Amino acid sequence: MRQQNDRFGSWFNRVMPKGLYARSLIIIVTPMVLLQSVLAFVFMERHYNAVTRRLSAAVSQDITAITDLASAFTTDDDLDRIRQIAQERMGLSIEFLPGERLPPPGPKPFFSILDSSFTGELGKRMRRPFWTDTVGNSNLIEVRVQLDNSVLRIFARRSQAYLSNSHIFLVWMVGTSLVLLAVAILFLRNQIKPIEALADAAEAFGKGRDVVGFRPRGAREVRGAARAFIEMRRRIERQIEQRTIMLAGVSHDMRTILTRFKLELAFLGDGAEVEMLRKDVDELQSMLEAYLAFARDDTGEPPVQVDIARMLDDIRLNAERQGAAATATFRGNPVVTIRADAYRRCITNLVANALRHGKRVEITGARDARWLLVTVDDDGPGIPLDRRDDVFRPFLRLDAARNQDAGGSGLGLTIARDAARAHGGDISLGDSPLGGLRASVRIPV
Ligand SMILES: Nc1ncnc2c1ncn2[C@@H]1O[C@H](COP(=O)(O)OP(=O)(O)OP(=O)(O)O)[C@@H](O)[C@H]1O
Ligand SMILES: [Mg+2]
Repeated sequence: MRQQNDRFGSWFNRVMPKGLYARSLIIIVTPMVLLQSVLAFVFMERHYNAVTRRLSAAVSQDITAITDLASAFTTDDDLDRIRQIAQERMGLSIEFLPGERLPPPGPKPFFSILDSSFTGELGKRMRRPFWTDTVGNSNLIEVRVQLDNSVLRIFARRSQAYLSNSHIFLVWMVGTSLVLLAVAILFLRNQIKPIEALADAAEAFGKGRDVVGFRPRGAREVRGAARAFIEMRRRIERQIEQRTIMLAGVSHDMRTILTRFKLELAFLGDGAEVEMLRKDVDELQSMLEAYLAFARDDTGEPPVQVDIARMLDDIRLNAERQGAAATATFRGNPVVTIRADAYRRCITNLVANALRHGKRVEITGARDARWLLVTVDDDGPGIPLDRRDDVFRPFLRLDAARNQDAGGSGLGLTIARDAARAHGGDISLGDSPLGGLRASVRIPV
C-alpha cells in the first residue's frame, strides 16, 4: 500500500510542473474547470432535456389537434380553413397529399435528443400511423400522417421543438473563465516576481556577483524572506571584511617584528647556527608576505565579462615561457562574468604547481549552460589520495621534505580554493591521464 503511495507520489511529482507559477495556476484553474464541468453537465442533463421535451410536447399536441380536425372536417373548404389556422396560429405549414402512402421509415439517428423526445411525444398522442424526419439539414422538421385517403404533410420549424441556442450558455461560461484566467495570471505574475527576484539575488550572491537594485517586495512572507536574505548577506560581508582586516593587521605587525629580528641577526655575525636562523627568518618572512598579499587581494573585486579561452591561452603562453610543454583548449561559449583577477590567480596557481612538479601541462576548459569547468593536468608525481584534502590547508607543503629549496609558501591551493569558492564553485583533485595530478575548478555561470 505504502509502496504504491510512494510510486504515485513520485509519478505525480514528475508529471506536475516544477515552477511555482505553473503550480499556482493549476491550483486556481483546476477547481474552476471542475466546477464548470459539473455545472455544464447538470445543466445540460436536466434543464436542457426538460425544455426540449416540453417544446416537443407542445408541437406534437398541435400536430395531433390538426390531424383530428382534418379527419373530422374533410371538405375542401374545411381543409383550406384548417391549413390557414395551422399556418397563422400554430406556425405549422401543412399540405394534403391525396392518394399517397407513407414512405418507409428512415434510419434512426443516434444521440439526437430532438428525435427521441419529439418522436416519443408524438407517439404518445397520435393514434394514426406517422412518419418523421428530424435529421435533414434544413431548419425544418417534417412529419407525415396517414389519413383515411390522403397523407397530411407538416413542416414545423426546428426551433419550435428544440432548445437550439443553448451553446450561448457554453460560450458565456468559457468566455468568463478565460477572463478569470487572465486576471489570475496577472495577479499571480505580480506575486511571483518578488520570489524570482529573491532567488536571483541569492544565486548571484552565491556566485560572488553584485546584486544591484534588490529590495524586499511583494507579500509579507516574501518580503520577510528578502529582508532576512539581505541581513544575512550583510553579516557575511562584514565577517569577510573583519577577517581580511585582522589578517592584514596580524601579518603587518609580525612583519615589523621580523624586520627587527633580521637586523639583530645581522649584528650577531656569521656562524652555522646564525645562518640557519637567518634561513628560518627568511622563510617566515616570505610566508608572511604571501599571506599579506592574500589578505590584501581578498578585497571585493567587481565581476566583469571575460573571455576565458583567451585567458587560458595567455596562461599557457606564460607556462611555455618557463620551458614547459603546455596546451590549452576550450569548448563552449567562452564569455563569462567573473572576478577576473581572482579567477586568473586561481588557475595560475594550479598551473604553477603543475610546472613545479611536472614537465607537461594540459589546460582544458569547458562551459555548458550551468557550469564553467577548467581542469589542469600534469605528468608529475601527483598527490596521494589521503593527502588531497590536506594540501588545501594554508602553509601546508608536502614536498617540504622532498626538496627544500622548491620554495613555495604552501598558500597556492588555499588561495585557489578561496577564489573558486568566492565564485560559488570549488576545486577538486584527482588522477590525471597524464600520470600526475588533475585539478578541476568548477564554478557556476
Ligand atoms: N601538481 C602537483 N603535483 C604534485 N604535488 C602537488 C601538486 N600541486 C600541489 N602539490 C602539493 O601540494 C602542496 C600544496 O600546494 P600549494 O600550491 O598550496 O603550495 P606550494 O605550491 O607549495 O606553494 P605556493 O603555491 O604558495 O608557491 C605542495 O607543496 C605540493 O606538495
Ligand atoms: Mg603552489
